[in-house]
Amino acid sequence: MIKFKKIAALALTAVIGVTALAGCGAGKMGDKLVMGTNAAFPPFEFTTSNGIVGEFDGIDVAIAKKIAESMGKTLQIEDMEFDGLIASLNTGKIDMAVAGMTANPERAKNVDFSDTYFVASQVILVSADNADITKAEDLKNDKTVGVVLGYTGDSIITDTLQIAEDKITRANRGIDVVQDVKNGKLDAVVIDSATGKALAEKNGLKVVEDSEVFDTEEYAIAVNKGNTELLEKINAILKEMKANGEIDALAEKYN
Ligand code: ARG
Repeated sequence: MIKFKKIAALALTAVIGVTALAGCGAGKMGDKLVMGTNAAFPPFEFTTSNGIVGEFDGIDVAIAKKIAESMGKTLQIEDMEFDGLIASLNTGKIDMAVAGMTANPERAKNVDFSDTYFVASQVILVSADNADITKAEDLKNDKTVGVVLGYTGDSIITDTLQIAEDKITRANRGIDVVQDVKNGKLDAVVIDSATGKALAEKNGLKVVEDSEVFDTEEYAIAVNKGNTELLEKINAILKEMKANGEIDALAEKYN
């Protein structure tokens, strides 16, 4: 009898082990939907003591939660550098990138984008008393500019405005370069409008807009190329949330 119990216990352990291992493959199978993001981008994603998914909160987190729920899955969030999101989709580490990501042709070579859910543009943040930066071109006047590595603001400063390399500071988070403007180490920051406005308000900075140079950017959710099954589910939820006003309500709530 004792022997039988031992064998049964061993067998059970083996079963649990295999199940646990299968669960580790997250993403592909199982009851989890894995969202990759960079949670330093309020109001879309940020961390707080009591977020809607663990410590995570924001417009994107709310949307992703809805998507997961509609599929009968729990949302798991992987917080990483923005620059690493596309590679993580490609390697299957995450199922979808929900990160205020601007859909553009360059990125669409490596991922598939959902329908868009938010329209933004870049803005310039300067100190409250700054009077000599009133448009994007002014940044070319020997100004030091901060951006976040790999954000669209980075490519606009680098490729479109062609600011000299030694004038550009690339940080991992918007707040880092915002801090530098506050301390007078940098003249300006170029970042997405909703996030920029939130950061400016919190840190007493001024927002400068320039619709001539800064095009509108549309945020979309990215999945690995060819993952049409997930993409269709995402689009269905986005469609529903746009039609019933939920996205507008979220933008209102978090802004
Ligand atoms: N919209 C910009 C881009 O796509 C910035 C996105 C940053 N998102 C984030 N979760 N940190 O490059």
